Amino acid sequence: MVRLGVNIDHVATLRQARGEPYPSVVDAAYTCLDHGADQITIHLREDRRHIQDTDVEAVHLVTKKFGKPLNLEIGVAPEIVDIAMATRPDWICVVPENREEKTTEGGLDLLNPKTFEKVKAACEKLKANDEQLKISLFVEANEEVLRKCAEINCDAVEIHTGDYARAHLNGEDIASYIEQYERSKSLCAELGLGHHAGHGLTGQSVKELVEKNLFVEYNIGNWIICQSVFDGLSKVVENLKEELQSK
Ligand code: PXP
Repeated sequence: MVRLGVNIDHVATLRQARGEPYPSVVDAAYTCLDHGADQITIHLREDRRHIQDTDVEAVHLVTKKFGKPLNLEIGVAPEIVDIAMATRPDWICVVPENREEKTTEGGLDLLNPKTFEKVKAACEKLKANDEQLKISLFVEANEEVLRKCAEINCDAVEIHTGDYARAHLNGEDIASYIEQYERSKSLCAELGLGHHAGHGLTGQSVKELVEKNLFVEYNIGNWIICQSVFDGLSKVVENLKEELQSK
């Protein structure tokens, strides 16, 4: 079954914009899980621009209540890794983090030996802390990079779909992305890694990927929260879940 992970960072972004206690990320997590989301994804960034430390535990309580996974996105800064170890989420997605970026801009550069070593060491530390923990690495659909992932103690990769999603939005040709994802899917099957997708996806752009059965999990945030302005969060999540199940 294809899984839908809802990233609720953007709810925290709205809250932080005015410094009021609303909208509540706890209520958002509850609503998403109550309307078909298979997991909640949050990114605790070093600069705490949206999700705060207290949100992590509060959202984790909600996912536990529903018996659904919390997927915590983190960079490999030691302070953040320590918080992740104390939290013991079900999944951790390791992402690159750059303070200047508006949002995560691409996958981990595992071809850079320094980055590779840092990510590998963080994953070993996280796995040693919690044997049940599953880890995904946020990467590009590149053969060399995927082979490097297999040298790290991880369970899945999350393929960066931002460029695909932008091309789809602009009505450009997406055939080369689909071919890339077909190749990454079969390589991941060979390497024993789960094949997840995330970043920039919309209701329309995810449809093409679902129809071609390219990924087992989609993590979507920005579009869901934006579309909720018009349709409401529960409806958007319900519709998206239906779309994913149609496969
Ligand atoms: N997956 C990862 C690894 C991300 O960093 C993000 C953005 O925080 C998402 C998925 C969700 O992306 P979007 O908000 O563009 O749907």
